[in-house]
Amino acid sequence: MAGGEKHGRRPIFSLLLLVLLRLPLLLSSTTAKNPTFTPSDVYLLDCGAPKSVQLSDGRTFRSEPQSSSFLSTDEDIRLSSTSPLPSLSPLYQTARVFSSTSTYSFFITKLGIHFIRLHFFPFPSSSYNLSSAIFTVNTEDFVLLRDFFVPSPASPVLKEYLINVDNERLYLTFKPKKGSFAFLNAVEVVSAPETLIPTSAASVSPQEQFSGINNYALEVISRINVGGDKISSENDTLAREWLPDSFLKPPDTVQKVAVAPEKVKYPEDGTVTPLIAPRSVYATADSMRDAHVSEPMFNITWDIPVDGGAYSYLVRLHFCDIISRTLNSLYFNVFINRILAIPNLDLSSLTGGNLSMAYYKDFVVAGTTLISGNISIQISPPVMNDPGLPNAILNGIEIMKMSNTAGSLDGLYSVDGSYHSDEPASTAKITVLVTVFGLAIFLMALAAIMFLRRRRRPEDWDKKHSFFSWLLPLHVSHSGRPGFISKWNGKGSTSSSKNGKGFGSHKSKSGYKSYLASGGLGLGRFFTFGELQQATSNFDEKNVIGVGGFGKVYLGLLDDGTKLAVKRGNPSSDQGINEFHTEIEMLSKLRHRHLVSLIGCCDENNEMILVYEYMSNGPLRDHLYPSSPSLTPLSWKQRLEICIGAARGLHYLHTGAAQSIIHRDVKSTNILLDENLVAKMSDFGLSKAGPSSLDQTHVSTAVKGSFGYLDPEYFRRQQLTDKSDVYSFGVVMLEVLCARPAINPALPRDQVNLAEWAMQWHRKGKVQVIMDPHLVAGVGPPSLNKFVEAAEKCLADSGVHRPTMGDVLWNLEYALQLQEAWIGQSYEDDDPSDIGNAGEIHVEHLDSLQRKEIPFDVEVVSVDFSTPADPSPLLQGR
Ligand SMILES: *[C@@H]1O[C@H](CO)[C@@H](O)[C@H](O)[C@H]1NC(C)=O
Ligand SMILES: *[C@@H]1O[C@H](CO)[C@@H](O)[C@H](O)[C@H]1NC(C)=O
Ligand SMILES: *[C@@H]1O[C@H](CO)[C@@H](O)[C@H](O)[C@H]1NC(C)=O
Ligand SMILES: *[C@@H]1O[C@H](CO)[C@@H](O)[C@H](O)[C@H]1NC(C)=O
Ligand SMILES: *[C@@H]1O[C@H](CO)[C@@H](O)[C@H](O)[C@H]1NC(C)=O
Repeated sequence: MAGGEKHGRRPIFSLLLLVLLRLPLLLSSTTAKNPTFTPSDVYLLDCGAPKSVQLSDGRTFRSEPQSSSFLSTDEDIRLSSTSPLPSLSPLYQTARVFSSTSTYSFFITKLGIHFIRLHFFPFPSSSYNLSSAIFTVNTEDFVLLRDFFVPSPASPVLKEYLINVDNERLYLTFKPKKGSFAFLNAVEVVSAPETLIPTSAASVSPQEQFSGINNYALEVISRINVGGDKISSENDTLAREWLPDSFLKPPDTVQKVAVAPEKVKYPEDGTVTPLIAPRSVYATADSMRDAHVSEPMFNITWDIPVDGGAYSYLVRLHFCDIISRTLNSLYFNVFINRILAIPNLDLSSLTGGNLSMAYYKDFVVAGTTLISGNISIQISPPVMNDPGLPNAILNGIEIMKMSNTAGSLDGLYSVDGSYHSDEPASTAKITVLVTVFGLAIFLMALAAIMFLRRRRRPEDWDKKHSFFSWLLPLHVSHSGRPGFISKWNGKGSTSSSKNGKGFGSHKSKSGYKSYLASGGLGLGRFFTFGELQQATSNFDEKNVIGVGGFGKVYLGLLDDGTKLAVKRGNPSSDQGINEFHTEIEMLSKLRHRHLVSLIGCCDENNEMILVYEYMSNGPLRDHLYPSSPSLTPLSWKQRLEICIGAARGLHYLHTGAAQSIIHRDVKSTNILLDENLVAKMSDFGLSKAGPSSLDQTHVSTAVKGSFGYLDPEYFRRQQLTDKSDVYSFGVVMLEVLCARPAINPALPRDQVNLAEWAMQWHRKGKVQVIMDPHLVAGVGPPSLNKFVEAAEKCLADSGVHRPTMGDVLWNLEYALQLQEAWIGQSYEDDDPSDIGNAGEIHVEHLDSLQRKEIPFDVEVVSVDFSTPADPSPLLQGR
């Protein structure tokens, strides 16, 4: 792997790498003869872990990034075991704690049956007693666990489910019981082969076909390798665990038998494959002891405890005749719960006259037939046993609990909390139910029609979509500030081009003090002018970190070492004063992880100074096309995370507060990065309250914003909606991808405007050509496509065709997950620095289009769009 050789032999090297990486798969496919299964969705997360871990079975569980792209909350409580047990899997040494309802969401690329595995182990921890956690786990449709806890002392608990996902997202919601919390050590969401779960199976009582099994959620209760040892996940085709038999009674009636696993054959028609059960399951069995004695007429019985009569169970029995030497010499009966399930099972004829061939049969067993809470499986030779030796055999047992009428696998409460009686529905009851249901549907339809007729507002996306998990907490109380709100509305709906002049003129400078004070938001402090003078070395030019229409921003340093960004208004600028007021007002209403926080202000000596948290990594733009090339280029994943952060901030502005807020100046210089590269939206100087009443869909206003980012529709019609921010955000996304300014007048005419130029290349399907050369090797094509598609939608000509910020966020999260999956697939656990070597995108980069120095920073709105109705507002641009 010497660096010099890599380039010349790259194709061979990549091929080799590929072969090496696929080796385990290749091996299993040659031994299995059947096509191997490659799951479309593979999410393996080691919750709370600082870095990815590889298990002994070869699977890599990823750590969760700080703001996990899978998780709805910003809460980030991670625990590590204080006394890790080396004998335990590394998954059980870290955990994530949820103090309030939290939702994981996973993108599902292929709908159908998925394994969901949840790992719990209440390890000792100094801050939380994990054994005392009590919580509920739901998907959108099913209750998986209700008021669940792991008592101490405990061994790890693995909960395994098979659920048919029919939505492009799978949500897993953790809901702590009141006063408690939830935790999770690891989670797996993995596609299962379509053939794994049948749609119908024989019902034992009544004896008929039971169909629609795929509409139920299944929980694996037991999976037994009869007559054999434990098979751990590394030796199973689908990372399942098969446990040794402990339910046999009386054990001395049986003889364990085993053959070499290679002897086991699978039928050529593919009805049984190693995916159903690996060879090692079929290669061991229990058969009858003393089969040759004269009175062998007894039953071998397995009593397997299950979760009670409120559920039905899917029982799968695995057979493989590894004991007969001649065909048609083994016949036996199979009973389930004392009911004859298979009379005279003749494996020879079922396997086309092949011995040692795998066979299995599924049954649906009603809870009403349980024997004292157990599922009882018996095998016995028939009384009349002419042709062969009296014997019987069983190789494997799987029992899966089926969700009940409440859609629950744990109790009688459904996901929405309603209680369902477990009495089996009688016919009369069904009739009543149907009537009630019909009536309910009618009423709902009526309500829906009325709702639709009343609804005019485009932005309540949360009602149209189920992205409930993105709704962010609102930390603002409006009580006690009625005057504030009404003033705000008055301003928001004015169409005067003298934007906001009527309120907060500089004569009432102390006015905003009362906003801050009455807000009761804990906005921190009023700084004295002296304090800020000292912090900024008397506003030394050397400390200037930014300049805007309002004045300058200084880096300040308090005595205790806290760094601040100090924004000092230019008292001579009327415009500045208005923007100042706007910003104070905005920020005092808003608190969010992805919005820059206001720490305090100072209004002494006619000064208007705002003090913010200091964002040490500066504006996003500086990381894309840095003026000082010392900054390392951001990876694709970092860029996606930054976009996601900024999108969350904007989404919160649009929907999180009582009144929607439009930023109006979304651009890469207004997205700031903190020391961990967490993105925060800043500069609310131009922000506008969105439409205040239901009848209003836009705010009429003078056109403001930054050239290159400006929504052409807003420009033409001078009507501001939150979709104008979406447009600008689309431009930022392209900037992130291509690492060039939105407008670069130094370039040939067709390349000046980034949005137009990039979309031209996108339409040719070749957007890779213009992307940042630093990215070329490290971007997964699926992720890239998703990203560019999302940017394209943002740039739609008309606002109504653009997605909401919520939708954009959704797509970005998806792109991030695709990228993580792509990295995981290609380089499982390689050194990430190798990633560049095996990238799949190969492009000849257009060197002629490389970034050039930008001659000036265009911030002025000027005429370039077609025929604005009235050009005068343009003159007010800053
Ligand atoms: C943790 O909680 C469990 C259940 O409430 C309790 O039995 C146990 O004693 C607690 N352990 C500690 C160390 O507090
Ligand atoms: C599982 O695989 C390991 C090696 O990967 C082997 O040592 C072990 O015997 C296997 N166990 C079974 C039950 O096949
Ligand atoms: C149920 O199964 C368990 C475990 O096999 C066993 O101990 C118990 O006796 C069984 N109950 C009955 C009534 O057979
Ligand atoms: C049984 O084995 C024979 C020969 O090995 C094969 O031709 C036949 O297809 C097998 N039967 C089934 C059902 O696979
Ligand atoms: C085996 O079990 C079945 C069902 O419980 C019962 O009907 C049958 O009599 C049993 N056979 C013997 C030999 O005990």
